[in-house]
This record gives sequence, structure tokens and C-alpha cells, in this order.
Amino acid sequence: MQDKSFLMIPGPTPVPESVLVELARHPIGHRSKEFSDLFMSCIEDLKWLGKTKDSDVFIYTASGTGAMEAAISNVLSPGDKVLSLVIGVFGKRFGQIASAFGGNVEILTVEPGKVIDLEVLKQKLQEDKNKEIKVVTVTHSETSSGAANDLEKIAKVVKNHGALLIVDAVTSLGCMNLEIDNWGLDIVVSGSQKGFMIPPGLSFIYVSKQAWDFYKKSKCPKFYWDFVKQKKSLDEQTTPFTPNVSFVCGLKKAFDMMKKEGLENIISRHARLKSRLRNGLKDLGLRLLTEDINASAAITAIYPPEGVSISDIRSAYKKDWDITVANGQDSLKDKIFRIGHLGFVSDRDIEMTLAVTEKVLEKLKTPCRV
Ligand SMILES: Cc1ncc(COP(=O)(O)O)c(C=O)c1O
Repeated sequence: MQDKSFLMIPGPTPVPESVLVELARHPIGHRSKEFSDLFMSCIEDLKWLGKTKDSDVFIYTASGTGAMEAAISNVLSPGDKVLSLVIGVFGKRFGQIASAFGGNVEILTVEPGKVIDLEVLKQKLQEDKNKEIKVVTVTHSETSSGAANDLEKIAKVVKNHGALLIVDAVTSLGCMNLEIDNWGLDIVVSGSQKGFMIPPGLSFIYVSKQAWDFYKKSKCPKFYWDFVKQKKSLDEQTTPFTPNVSFVCGLKKAFDMMKKEGLENIISRHARLKSRLRNGLKDLGLRLLTEDINASAAITAIYPPEGVSISDIRSAYKKDWDITVANGQDSLKDKIFRIGHLGFVSDRDIEMTLAVTEKVLEKLKTPCRV
């Protein structure tokens, strides 16, 4: 049947009908008062979502990686030492961006599915007696493994050292608790196609006062991403370049929904969906990549049953049920499959996914239920 396909991947995520209808309207002029009001209200809503009063927030017409590049290029100078905390593909990407801008990148990494060990991080930063490490990059929820770092504790350790902390919150913002001011997060980036419930195309960046101090010293080239251009325009309630007007309108609609649900309810819904999915999958006899204690509320990574290929699993979900689940990435490609449960996802969607998973396992003739 047409128009019944269902995305259970970690982004793009399903989009609510009210947002889709909004996206289909004729675009409005980006220099109009109507757009300015809408844009500024999205900026306020972004502050609400990130629990910040102190940080500036900018919206880029770009995917999440654009905001990651903006973060690096606005604070780094060639030769600066960067400690990149890598627990998967997206953590690695931050290190690659920093290298591309001339950063002297050191990587602290772990096995897939694991998270950064706080004692190891503490020791690493204590050894840096001359404070050569200028910037630390970290992924909050690592989409490639479904593991989530303890961001609050990592921030405490990094703040003790004094380096600037840049956080990839692409699959955590709007899904998991994240407190920019209380935890002292210097730069936080996210993307629209995840917890925000709109399609890919906008990215968001939060910039703290300390990040502005780094901006003043930064010698990396910048133009489209330049924080000052963003800030100057924002002070005039506008944008430096033509924004994706339709997506900003869609974002406002999505924020209306989010505010109605309430931030704490959004966070607890994601936690509940994660636990139900993980327990249901384990009851079916499936093994998960991450331990419960390290599990992201946004994505779950699952090993296939013995002797069953990822491609057979994915095509059974797709062909028989029109549900898309994701393959693994990088070294985990064809070794795990991933189910996204972030954004516009309800309890019913999780129950349906579990019921379909049972059918998929039956079809592939693997014993299920432990
Ligand atoms: C944790 C994380 N960081 C960064 C990105 C990159 O975002 P984009 O693909 O929107 O550029 C993604 C995308 O899936 C992600 O999940």
C-alpha cells in the first residue's frame, strides 16, 4: 500500500502532519516582519529546549555537519591542540573537521558501544600541565552505536581543565536531558531531522560567552559560518543570508507541539520508549550493542541472530512491513542494525516495531522469545 511507509531510522525521522502542511505553504519573504517574528520565536524556543539563557543561538541552513564545521572554524586557530572524544562515526567526524582546519588533533577512543571513561579523561587532562589542549569535542548520543556519554560529568572534568567544550547534540537535543547553562557547555550543535521532527536542512548552534572569547583569538577562515555575521543579523531580528524560510515555519509548528507536550514529558517519553524497545528486543532473544547504563534514548543498535544477515533483516522489515531500519556504519556495517526512536515517535510505534520484529524473526526462521 502506498503512503504507509514508516521510518524507524535515526534520522531523518517521521514528520507530523501539521508540520508537513506548514512546509507545503508558499514561502514568505525572509525580510518581512512576519518572518522576523517567527524566526525570533524559534530562537527563544531553542533556548528553552537547550535550557539556556546565557548562550546565543543561531540557525544555519545546513545539515548538522555544517554546524559542526561552524563550531570548529569559529574558535580554532591552526596548530591548536584538540582532544577529540570518539565513541563512533560522528565523534570521528569532529576530529576530521578539526584536522581539516589545521587543528593538532589527539583522539581518545573506545570500542564500539562503549562510552568515554571519566577516569581516563581526567588523567589525560591532568597530564596536560601546560594547558596545551584548547578544545575538547564530544558526542552526546552517538548515532552509529546507540551509546550516550555522561555529558554532565564530562563537562565537569573539562571545565576543571579550562578547555573549550564543543558538544555534538545532533541526536540528543529534544530527546535527552541537556542543560547548557548548568553544565557549562560552551558550544552545542544539533540538526533538524532528529528530535526536532522536521526534515533535514536546518542546523542549530549554541554559543557561550567563553566560546566568544575563543572566537576573538581564532585565526581559521570563516564566511558563511561566521558567528559575528549571525550575531549582528540576529540583533536586527534577521539572518545574514537567505534562510530556508519554509523549514523555519515548519520548525515553529514543531515547537508548538513540543511546548504543548512539555520538555520534561518529551525527555521521559524518549526514556520510556528506549526502555520498552530494549526490553522487548531482549525478550525476543536479540542481543544489543550497548549496555543499558550507556544506552542513548534516541537509537538502539542490535546484533542479528546467529546466521542471519543484516540485509535479510532489513529487507524483511521493508518488503513485508514497509518499515525502514538502518544498517550499521563504518566498522559496524553489516554487523548490526539500528532502530531510531527519536522525535515524532509514540508508544504505539514501539509496540508495532516489536510486533513486526517478531514476525521478521519468524520469517527468517530464527528461534525467538527467551
Ligand atoms: C550524532 C550525529 N552527529 C552529526 C551528524 C551529522 O549530521 P548531518 O548528517 O545532518 O550532517 C549526525 C547525522 O546523523 C549525527 O547523528
